[in-house]
Amino acid sequence: MQDTSFAIHPGKKKEIKGTDFQDIGNVLSFSEQNGVFMIKCEHGYVHVTFYTNSIVRVVMNPDTEPSLTTSPAVIKEREPVSYTVNKGKEEVVVATENMTLTVRKSPLRISITDKEGLTLVNESEKGLGSNAAGEVVCFKNMHQHDHYYGFGEKTGFLDKKGNQLTMWNSDVYAPHNPETDPLYQSIPFFMTLRDDLAFGIFFDNTGKTHFDMREEDDTYSFRGESGQLDYYVFAGPTMKDTLTQYTALTGNMPLPPKWALGYHQSRYSYETEEEVRELVHNFLEKGIPVDAIYLDIHYMDGYRVFTFDKNRFPNPKKLLQDLRDQGIRVVPIVDPGVKEDSEYSIYQEGVTQDRFCKYIEGTIYFGDVWPGNSAFPDFTNRDVRKWWGEKHRFYSDLGIEGIWNDMNEPAVFNETKTMDTKVMHENDGDPKTHRELHNIYGLLMGEATYEGMKRQLKGKRTFLLTRAGYAGVQRYGSVWTGDNRSFWEHLQMAIPMCMNLGMSGVAFCGPDVGGFAHDATGQLLARWTQFGTFTPYFRNHSALDAARQEPWSFGENIEEIVKNYIQLRYVWMPELYRLFKEAHESGIPVMRPLVLEYPTDKHTFNLSDQFMIGDNVIIAPVMTPDTEHRVVYLPEGSWVNYWTEEVLEGGHHHLIYAGLETLPIFVKQNTAIAHGAIKSTTEVKEENYQIHLYKGKEGKVVYRIYEDDGQTFDYEQGKVYENELTFHYSSDKLELTTNRTGTYEPDWESFTLVIHGDDDLTQIMIDGKDVTKLAEAKAGKYIVPLSI
Ligand code: GLC
Repeated sequence: MQDTSFAIHPGKKKEIKGTDFQDIGNVLSFSEQNGVFMIKCEHGYVHVTFYTNSIVRVVMNPDTEPSLTTSPAVIKEREPVSYTVNKGKEEVVVATENMTLTVRKSPLRISITDKEGLTLVNESEKGLGSNAAGEVVCFKNMHQHDHYYGFGEKTGFLDKKGNQLTMWNSDVYAPHNPETDPLYQSIPFFMTLRDDLAFGIFFDNTGKTHFDMREEDDTYSFRGESGQLDYYVFAGPTMKDTLTQYTALTGNMPLPPKWALGYHQSRYSYETEEEVRELVHNFLEKGIPVDAIYLDIHYMDGYRVFTFDKNRFPNPKKLLQDLRDQGIRVVPIVDPGVKEDSEYSIYQEGVTQDRFCKYIEGTIYFGDVWPGNSAFPDFTNRDVRKWWGEKHRFYSDLGIEGIWNDMNEPAVFNETKTMDTKVMHENDGDPKTHRELHNIYGLLMGEATYEGMKRQLKGKRTFLLTRAGYAGVQRYGSVWTGDNRSFWEHLQMAIPMCMNLGMSGVAFCGPDVGGFAHDATGQLLARWTQFGTFTPYFRNHSALDAARQEPWSFGENIEEIVKNYIQLRYVWMPELYRLFKEAHESGIPVMRPLVLEYPTDKHTFNLSDQFMIGDNVIIAPVMTPDTEHRVVYLPEGSWVNYWTEEVLEGGHHHLIYAGLETLPIFVKQNTAIAHGAIKSTTEVKEENYQIHLYKGKEGKVVYRIYEDDGQTFDYEQGKVYENELTFHYSSDKLELTTNRTGTYEPDWESFTLVIHGDDDLTQIMIDGKDVTKLAEAKAGKYIVPLSI
């Protein structure tokens, strides 16, 4: 039914807040076994255990002793942790090196402080419990200065204080508005920034969960409609530490193949071989770099996964090989729905080998998706994941190295938009309903796909793009933000959405550039491509009936701008790749909100229209039509306009000119960044590798160049090129010392040092050698050729 005022009928209010909460009550007993503290209360059971000195897990079950089995999000084992226990009459205090947990007994209340004694979480009025609907609930005190970041893929501004958020993977084709929630991904993790302290909470519950971060009661809460109350607290004390702790628990992003960081072109759909060839021809002829072309659902025979339509794609092997010879990869879409068709081998195998999701009575669940009536593999079963992974030989044998998983919420064309929640999942021997496991369906499909492709590519890195996921999705794939629209508002929304994905462990993410549904305009495409140049994932994608939005779709002027920015992506590739390596190791995202670097600057707390690449570069896209100026906030320090070299003082808002051809970029003084010049990641030789140093008056900069072969896992064995460059400089002297490590030989044999800053250098020394004579002074810069 179309919504009317009936939607706000008073009879629809589900509960009078606070009336049906059953508090867990007083502690009846407290015991300890193998590092697990077991607390029995009047109305439930709680187990507490430390994973590390800085990560504690609390599990509450209102009915029975809690199970300590984790969801598949968690891959870290508990580390041995030393702690002391102090048992008092009123409370028990357990302390590790980095956090102290106080368990108050009457009634049970848990509070956690960090090693400085600062409170991370505390419960006062209310604590843990359940409600009349059978949900598990947890209340925590909210502080006036709290700001909340993370929660995965959400619309709205950066700081989630004041919001209610739901986690239930959902296919949402309707416009993504500020109140459109939930979307495709569920990442029930968030960080609190309170003054200069940060810490995190991960509510590991694979069913539908809700977070209430509204400000009314000085409390926030989270609850799960099924399962246990199972949450982890990460001690921080910074947001970066918290992210590292969270990704240690749920896994790090593997280093993607370099081609996956290039520009990708997609459309729903490039429908025939000729169309794909013509598309590629256009890119090559126009000199616009492109690393991957996507095949949406029309490549298949009647939308049957693991097939090609023989008429439209008569010789996929040859097509793929020809494209590969031109440096372009093809990424096909693979949805979970398997067409019900007794003559289709995947369906036959699925039925005869018992691979599909079923009702408890044993009948297969069918849902309507693109191929019509379809069955869905039960990815919660290890053998099914293996089977599905193996099926990808169909693609890998053709030379395909990347897969696009869509509709894996799973989406079904029915009222509820998904699978019947009564369906049972095998869940590796611990059967549970779809209601309880819905949010991990996409994650496990991702695991099956990633692991299968990885095995088949024999040492080459694979690439996965996935629409749905759960905490830990970063282990397998990159995430795009689903079916946005070609609205300026959706360009605006993509910035905080991607920043919060990054603050939820998903460093590799991006929106459909240009917008998926609705019609892009030239201006919108130009501005969106400028933004996309700096999103970790960079793909232009649009829907069937939407205006075409390939780079040349809006005339020469727009084509030129779009081309320049796609090329700029490759210029920045060495810097981006270095940041991907950092994200792979530490979980700290490539694309960052300013608050991550300036957590005490109040102007950054909810700054949603600018972002950073790494720790010293600010990108401030223009996101309204016919706009040639915008306000940019620069935090403390001096910042150099990337295009004009003008130095601007931080701690201020500046009005910046940004005609349609200009994306405002600012580099902080006292920073080095690497640049390249190749136009595609597969072109072999990088001949113009550059290190740009943005000097201040005097200072020290340490910068680590990172390169490897970009396609294998040899980097894990130290086959890397790392060079730690240490610059010491004053207004007239500069000294650089290099420290190269690793066994990888990059394509380039030399690089150029470009020194920005308009003062007169009288001496440039490199590793003790005077190279002043080699330096060429040019437009306020010094250019120095160097060998590596
Ligand atoms: C879904 C995807 C979209 C894709 C379409 C057809 O809407 O989100 O990206 O193009 O399905 O496969």
